[in-house]
Amino acid sequence: MDKLKFLCVAALMTITVLLTGCGTSTSGHKTVAVCFPNTTPSWERNGSALQRYLEEDGFKVDMKISSTSDEQVAQVVEAIKTKPGCVVVGAIDSSAFAQALEETKSYNVPIIAFDRIIFGTDAVTYYASYDNDAVGEAQALYFETVLNLRKGGGPYNIEFFAGGTTDNNSHIFLRNIMKIFDPYLNNGQLVCRSGQTDFDQVTVKDWYAENARPRIKELLAKYYNGETLHAIIAPNDEIAGVILDEMRRAGQPIPLICGLDADPAALERIKNGQQTFTVAKDPEVLTLKCFRMVKAVVDGTVPDINDVKTYDNGVKVVPAYLCTPQIIDRSNIDQF
Ligand code: BGC
Repeated sequence: MDKLKFLCVAALMTITVLLTGCGTSTSGHKTVAVCFPNTTPSWERNGSALQRYLEEDGFKVDMKISSTSDEQVAQVVEAIKTKPGCVVVGAIDSSAFAQALEETKSYNVPIIAFDRIIFGTDAVTYYASYDNDAVGEAQALYFETVLNLRKGGGPYNIEFFAGGTTDNNSHIFLRNIMKIFDPYLNNGQLVCRSGQTDFDQVTVKDWYAENARPRIKELLAKYYNGETLHAIIAPNDEIAGVILDEMRRAGQPIPLICGLDADPAALERIKNGQQTFTVAKDPEVLTLKCFRMVKAVVDGTVPDINDVKTYDNGVKVVPAYLCTPQIIDRSNIDQF
């Protein structure tokens, strides 16, 4: 009897060692750590959509939410050390992970950068995002059309806001907007009365929408007392909401204003004619792509990639899948 027990235990141990040895331990392999910020509602939507896709497929999700970059780096390291099948990171600071990911390379855990690229390390396996150049371009082209700029429209007063400085996307958005607006600012069809067009002058710290309030208040008081502010670039819907709120308080007419993310509050404002448009980055589309990427890396196969040149993170060009953003305004809002 004792001998039989011993044989059974020995057989079990052998199976366990074999399974662990070839990396197929169910607990390790089937767990996916998702490390996201809690800074805007869009992260919540992305987080729950990704969690749903993963859990429906039998993955266990270790969801880690953080509000500061230091906290997030620590969470990612902690997650990697549990040897999950994959870690998905929505970086608060695109540049904060290089050292930590170098130091945890020996764990051989695939890392997928979600929405925001991670700089300075080849430990990033893939990048799932939207075409961020196209986001900025779409915002500027919309204004170019409505303001009839190509046919000489203007002069129109315009002010700019950009996202948080530690997020690479913020820089891409503004760069692409300025690429289209620069000629109109130079020839006077667009007039930025504050003169604040550099990233450092227009960034909204950490993407926290309330951080935009003091600046719009000051701009209105200093430059638009008796002048109309015709157009505003808001980098996302939450920030657009705060700007519009301050304009209303100041008794200013509603400007042409964009946003990003298709937040429910922004869709309401678009319906009511308060916000001109938003750029939708549908969480279902991006998270489905990301989910398939996770599945591929866990299964040891190659995921669907559509970009191998744009996201040079300083150490490698990170293979990416970039989804296509979509404009939502009053003309198509009923479809959403
Ligand atoms: C994302 C936006 C989001 C912003 C704030 C950016 O990186 O691309 O969709 O609104 O971060 O979280």
